[in-house]
Amino acid sequence: MPGHKLGKVYDKLGYSDIVKNIYKMDTTEISGTDNLHSPEGIIKKSQERASRVFKSEYTYYLINGSTCGIQGAIMALCSPKDKLIVNRDCHQSVINSCILGDIEPVYILPKINNEINILEGVEVQEVLDTIDNNLDAKAVLVTYPTYYGKTYDLKKICEYAHEKNMIVIVDEAHGSHLGLSDKLPKTALDQDADIVIQSTHKTLPSFTQSSMIHIQGNRVDKDKLETMLRIIESSSPSYVLMSSLELAVDIYETKGKELMEDLLLNIDRFKEDIKNNESIDIYNDNDKTKVFISSKGLGLTGYELETTLRETYNIQVELANYYGVLLICTIGNNSDDFNMMKDALNNISKKSYKEKFIEHIEYPMTIPVKVLSPREAFYKPKKSVKIYESIGKICGEYIIPYPPGISLLSPGEVITKEVIDYILLCNKKGMNVSGIKDSNLEFIEIIVD
Ligand SMILES: Cc1ncc(COP(=O)(O)O)c(C=O)c1O
Repeated sequence: MPGHKLGKVYDKLGYSDIVKNIYKMDTTEISGTDNLHSPEGIIKKSQERASRVFKSEYTYYLINGSTCGIQGAIMALCSPKDKLIVNRDCHQSVINSCILGDIEPVYILPKINNEINILEGVEVQEVLDTIDNNLDAKAVLVTYPTYYGKTYDLKKICEYAHEKNMIVIVDEAHGSHLGLSDKLPKTALDQDADIVIQSTHKTLPSFTQSSMIHIQGNRVDKDKLETMLRIIESSSPSYVLMSSLELAVDIYETKGKELMEDLLLNIDRFKEDIKNNESIDIYNDNDKTKVFISSKGLGLTGYELETTLRETYNIQVELANYYGVLLICTIGNNSDDFNMMKDALNNISKKSYKEKFIEHIEYPMTIPVKVLSPREAFYKPKKSVKIYESIGKICGEYIIPYPPGISLLSPGEVITKEVIDYILLCNKKGMNVSGIKDSNLEFIEIIVD
């Protein structure tokens, strides 16, 4: 990320002059430049084109990332105290929206690939059961595809939720490119989601922080959503970011399919070539543009492989976990990128210590007991205690191993030994744990009473 890959795609397609001069588009709401918050002119026209291209009924440009789209969608659709069914491995912005809007999250535990400890999204039946057990919930929010490219039968979830009068919000932050090929999983809009939020900047060529929110059908109160977006977004929306969204829409519509075909071919070739290297295992998920490379066979942790790729081979991967690295491939990549990666991996495999054993670390797979809502917990007094003294107490902060950035503990939940042991082990192995104020992980904040 971002999907334009250091602007390579703009250069390739002849957009360099526009991009080089994009600062000249840094204007404000004056005559002729329209207003994102009540568009009637060029922005309205541009959003209408995006809506046509992405096959929604209405599309809104977002200049505070998908974060604000998620906040806007949740708070427009759920009133205070409403229940929101959501996958536990949701982005932090979902839980933050529950704090802001006083909404009650009801979690669904995701599946996990035990071999490489990556989260694999929800089990459809789990979602349907959670709906059945919470028929008073207002909406269901799911992440589709996951960061690692996992998808599932979203249509079934939408059908069932609609039957039970629930609205389906899809966090498609990692899937704005899905409509570019039949070889990729279906888009959330294609599967009847009511409201879909996409980080255009992640997998398509727009600038960081520029995203879109799409709606369709008659379940979403469009006026309320627009009002909520006005409340949470900047009153000075960046024309640079909006222009970059327009570039992404243009590229998507005019060249997107062709570029995606090339990309998928490059990925297939890369996988085929690397097959001969016995130290490398590739996990390619439903969304083929996400490629996970296991480093176990190299005798390296994912962190070590990431550092080697960056420092020795000038390659920056999207993320590393303990077991490997994730590549996010976009239409901004070209065959040279894949060749460079292939050569680097082949070189590394000649040098690395295959006898080194990469031990398995079990991911904690239980949802902690929730005592307070995220909002109640946020406003309670807190104190810092030694980490092992916190077991059994109510957590006052987030504990989020990063990546993948999923909260193991959120404010208001009971701290367990399992989670504390896990994060201390993660930390020892070089994993980053965010959310917690004491980065040394000696102390943790708990709720005082
Ligand atoms: C699954 C998911 N949803 C939402 C977001 C937020 O997106 P943005 O960075 O566009 O605000 C992210 C960011 O990484 C994410 O991974």
